Amino acid sequence: MAKTTLIIYHTIRAGNTKRMAEAIAEGASAEGVEAIVKSVKDVTWDEVVAADGIALGTPQPFSMLSGPMKTFFEDNWADHERITGKPAVCFIKSSRDPSAGIAAIDKIVGYYGVKKVADTVGATEVTDAVIGACRAAGKALALEVKQLQTV
Ligand SMILES: Cc1cc2nc3c(=O)[nH]c(=O)nc-3n(C[C@H](O)[C@H](O)[C@H](O)COP(=O)(O)O)c2cc1C
Repeated sequence: MAKTTLIIYHTIRAGNTKRMAEAIAEGASAEGVEAIVKSVKDVTWDEVVAADGIALGTPQPFSMLSGPMKTFFEDNWADHERITGKPAVCFIKSSRDPSAGIAAIDKIVGYYGVKKVADTVGATEVTDAVIGACRAAGKALALEVKQLQTV
């Protein structure tokens, strides 16, 4: 069965975080791995569990994760062991220094016990370099999931 990645994002208004999500999907697709991009508001926990690899991205309002992304992590905590060890990458779109968002999401995915396969991408602008970093993160995710044994 084909391997899949699920790229989950929240965008407040301008869609920059979604653009980063789409670049991660491009990187994974270029490696021959299916990549589905979904808003955190539309994704189900079963879809997250079913994906071979996941990406999680959020803006940085008030120097934190956005509300829907934080709620996603809180609501699914009781079942977090279903994704322990799953390959993952993260991304943050801020307007200022993204280090607070990076620290926050890294801490939460650490609690969840996913296997991060690239450093979290943080961006204040969605430049060509940022798109390149997102594609590289998607590629790293795809290469990791391609190593997984199919049960
Ligand atoms: C209410 C609000 C508060 C924000 N506070 C911060 C902040 O403290 N630090 C920061 O870097 N960006 C902050 N931002 C900016 C967003 O992180 C930034 O605009 C991001 O690109 C929004 O994501 P989007 O383009 O996907 O909608 C804030 C945005 C809003 C709407």
